[in-house]
Amino acid sequence: MCGIVGYVGRERCVEVLMQGLSHLEYRGYDSAGLALQGEGGIEPIREVGRLENLGRAVAARNGHLSRMRAGIGHTRWATHGRPSEQNAHPQMGGRGTVAVVHNGIIENFAELKAELLEKGVRFESETDTEVMAHLLAERVEANPKETLRASLSAVLGRLEGSFAVAAVSVAEPGVIVAARHQSPLVVGLGEGENFLASAVQALLGETRRFLVVENGEVVEITGDSVGIFTRDGGPVERESFEVDWDAEAVELGVYEDFMMKEIHEQPEALRATLAGRLDAEGRVDLSETGLDLRHVNRVVVVACGTALHAGLLGKGLIERLARLPVEVAVASEYRYADPVGDENTLVVAISQSGETTDTLAAVEAARYFGGKVLAVTNTRGSLITREADAVLLTEAGPEICVASTKAFAAQVAALDLLALELARVRGTVSDDELLSLGRDLRRAPEKVAAALALLEGKTEAAVELFEDARCSLFLGRGPAFPVALEGALKLKEISYIPSEGYAAGEMKHGPIALVDEQCPVVAILGEGVLREKTLSNVEETAARGANVVAIAREDDAAADRVGRVVLCVPDAPEILRPLVWSVPLQLLAHDIATDRGLDVDKPRNLAKSVTVE
Ligand code: F6R
Repeated sequence: MCGIVGYVGRERCVEVLMQGLSHLEYRGYDSAGLALQGEGGIEPIREVGRLENLGRAVAARNGHLSRMRAGIGHTRWATHGRPSEQNAHPQMGGRGTVAVVHNGIIENFAELKAELLEKGVRFESETDTEVMAHLLAERVEANPKETLRASLSAVLGRLEGSFAVAAVSVAEPGVIVAARHQSPLVVGLGEGENFLASAVQALLGETRRFLVVENGEVVEITGDSVGIFTRDGGPVERESFEVDWDAEAVELGVYEDFMMKEIHEQPEALRATLAGRLDAEGRVDLSETGLDLRHVNRVVVVACGTALHAGLLGKGLIERLARLPVEVAVASEYRYADPVGDENTLVVAISQSGETTDTLAAVEAARYFGGKVLAVTNTRGSLITREADAVLLTEAGPEICVASTKAFAAQVAALDLLALELARVRGTVSDDELLSLGRDLRRAPEKVAAALALLEGKTEAAVELFEDARCSLFLGRGPAFPVALEGALKLKEISYIPSEGYAAGEMKHGPIALVDEQCPVVAILGEGVLREKTLSNVEETAARGANVVAIAREDDAAADRVGRVVLCVPDAPEILRPLVWSVPLQLLAHDIATDRGLDVDKPRNLAKSVTVE
């Protein structure tokens, strides 16, 4: 939520900041801005709407911007104050003597604002961030001998809430200071130039060497130096790390949008997530986590949104194979619940970004009963990796589209591995069966690739059924139920068609009242006895006029009977079916939304990492 970027070094500041922001736009796209340090002071440029508006504003200024060597930038997801030019960042303090960009929320901003108003400070925005800018300017003016870094540290002591913040001052040209508390921040290392950003993907075109900034630390960068300090000014030693993600991973390549690109990257995300953890014979090795799973007697999964749906799939498999009770908790609820557990409870926190505030808070809640926490995340060095006892990295690569697809697939694969490992440790499944399941799991990339090939260009008839849709229902049973939940979430978040995922058997207890010709039903028929039951439930909706899109195996004759349209998936081993069923639902959501002319990568009101409560 909100992206920040900083650059200091050569005369290419604007170019680097704009490139960086373009790779952070998924974090918020209500407005964007830059604060550039020039000879005549700080030059702010802010625009409402997408980054291209800021790009036009930059182009419209005369060429002097191309000589700027230092600056900060921001892309906003509004929290305090509607999207407007005044509320966009940078926020200026003093009479334009300092500029601040911020990601997070200052919870005590109202008190601080009242105090500043009392002193006669004039506010121009409704943001919480402006308070920080004025406090910083006040401190700088009152202490001209103090460094900007020390002034920022002093101001931070007055703030409550979460933030990653970067600031520049006219008093210290060529210096950017920044700090972090809860919201993410990394430093990118260059030669004669240095960078700051909310996420490494902003800077992959510039550097692969990064430093993580930890909570409570303050950073000072110039073209030639990077310093990390504690709030009271003590220097901090930090090892740099290399990122092996490709710069192409954050470019569209041949695709028109990141969602379609990332749907097609699922086979690779699965391959990379399983690599080194599952050998050719089907043996799982999760020793990298360092967890002793022998005493686990209960599992709690905490997550939000799509990650929660992956957790529900994990629950099914862990319970079936390892015979352990699994609770799947919505993180925003769990954090305020009075959770039950003990030191033998394994808490699995799933988060693509590793920064979701509610998931982090749920992890903290689990600490009260002493549970061990395993983080399943796609982001190396993210907050959750430091909060958890152990980490299982999904290797989906950077996911840019706000709607998650390949990260979900990788989460499901990671939980499959965990289920197999728990079953092995507990001896609940024979060795032969375990190896056979492991070998099935190894086929995940191949089967998802086959589903993609089979469905290529096949969604048109299904998309037509949604042309006049008022709402829609996604139905499934057993493992197809979490897939239905995820399918409905995908469709509603990018097409804005109200969509509900339901256990097919629950239909008759309320939702069937929605069904008519304008409420298409997407049914994952599934396999075995559950398929028979699902078919009956779907027939009941068809009998009431529903236009049914059936997700079924290629040779499923009954699918043609109930479905106005059938989206075929390849036959796949049981453990892989949820991954295979997800593919047509992702493509369908994508194609319905693009058919409506919507921007699938940046749906309205959303942002990719939810770092506020
Ligand atoms: C939906 C989606 C969200 C995220 C949720 C959790 O497509 O992506 O529902 O799954 O915001 O995010 P992470 O996994 O980063 O904690």
